[in-house]
Amino acid sequence: MDSFVVQGGRQLTGEVSVSGSKNAALPIMAASLLSTGTTTLHRVPHLVDVNTLSRLLHELGVRATWCGQSLSLHVEREENNCAPYEHVSRMRASICVLGPLLAKRGNAVVVLPGGCNIGHRPIDLHLKGLSALGAEIDVRHGYVFAKAEKLRGTQIYLGGPFGSTVTGTCNVMSAATLAQGATTIESAACEPEVVALGEFLISMGAKIGGLGTPKIEIEGVDELTPTTWTIPPDRIEAASLMMAVAATRGRVTFANLDIDHLTAVVDLLNQMGVNVVARSQSELIIDSTQRLRSVDVASRPYPGLPTDIQAQVMALMSIASDTSTIRDFVFPDRFMHVAELERLGARIRQNGDTAFVAGVPKLSGAHVTATDLRASAALVIAGLVAEGETIIHGIEHLDRGYERFEYKLNQLGASVQRVVSQPEKRAA
Ligand code: EPU
Repeated sequence: MDSFVVQGGRQLTGEVSVSGSKNAALPIMAASLLSTGTTTLHRVPHLVDVNTLSRLLHELGVRATWCGQSLSLHVEREENNCAPYEHVSRMRASICVLGPLLAKRGNAVVVLPGGCNIGHRPIDLHLKGLSALGAEIDVRHGYVFAKAEKLRGTQIYLGGPFGSTVTGTCNVMSAATLAQGATTIESAACEPEVVALGEFLISMGAKIGGLGTPKIEIEGVDELTPTTWTIPPDRIEAASLMMAVAATRGRVTFANLDIDHLTAVVDLLNQMGVNVVARSQSELIIDSTQRLRSVDVASRPYPGLPTDIQAQVMALMSIASDTSTIRDFVFPDRFMHVAELERLGARIRQNGDTAFVAGVPKLSGAHVTATDLRASAALVIAGLVAEGETIIHGIEHLDRGYERFEYKLNQLGASVQRVVSQPEKRAA
């Protein structure tokens, strides 16, 4: 397992360009299964999760070829419809193949993705939506077996106890594109990644309306054709880097982002006393000159503050002027990073889905362990402002979702060194 050695206390300055979005790329890659032929995607981030999905797609008859940041997916065979444990257990987003396989090939066998470090993550809403479309669904031996000769359009309510479901909406919307007749998804997720998938499907010939609203309407078509598409910017990577700049009281120009997707993040940073200047739709400047102010916020489905930056916000709160609170309405158990931030001197009390963070003037470097993807980014941000050296173990989590993160930070003046782990030698 690789680790990062971060020397704290350096201000970030300069310019950075945001990569393509992981959470848009994954369902779009899975949706390539809906057509036969070659789909080409541009600005695909080079990430472990993207490689994991490429390997799963390979099992399903899809050959992936890279050319720089472009990924071509050639659907060559359609006999194997089984997504096995070894792939799905590595990455929950593998569940995104369920809807496309079912709709295009008439059946799908996908292992249940199981729990993960950010809490219980059921897929009941995915299955409810696909059943409503007429699929026969059976869960046994840890697998979902889904089949349907022809899906039929219908009205589906996809809301759950924690709001809408992002990948659930992706699965049901993808499946409905090839269903007979019209489908309406109520309480659909409005996240930009769902919109990106919908627009990709439209470019394949799908008929979809209402993207970005809780009511998505789909008119089924007989077939979809392969297309060429560009992955939108990663709003979570952008937000994570914006927080890193804010924490170090730096000044950085961001290029290749979509400001409309970052409204809640910009509002939070403004509340904390950070100056955010929009230069265009795709460019902004973060300018942070003073100690951050405390805030009370909650993460919610889009357009609310994303749960995927809750940990990074907590890192900022750790050095704010007073006591802040942060509540996670989407993943109420996503607090594994609390204990690690405490090792760096943060003063946090967690109660259920809420953390109370008493800001301290300085954090101090220590050994910490990344517990999940976004927690890793939070620890890097904390390490950038901690006194002395912070060693972050478990960087494989970060590699799943941040493209060249340490390179980007070092270009801005940070000191983040990767220590590549040596395979342990076994005693004879
Ligand atoms: N939920 C259910 N039933 C379901 C599905 C979800 O109760 O069938 C609940 C979840 O347990 C959670 C809430 O609904 O409490 C929202 O979960 P959602 O289904 O929206 O999450 P997801 O689709 O599995 C995606 C992102 C996550 C991100 C969430 C929320 C991808 C590949 N993953 O997950 O990203 O946190 O939406 O925005 O798009 C990450 O990138 O680090 C990450 C975890």
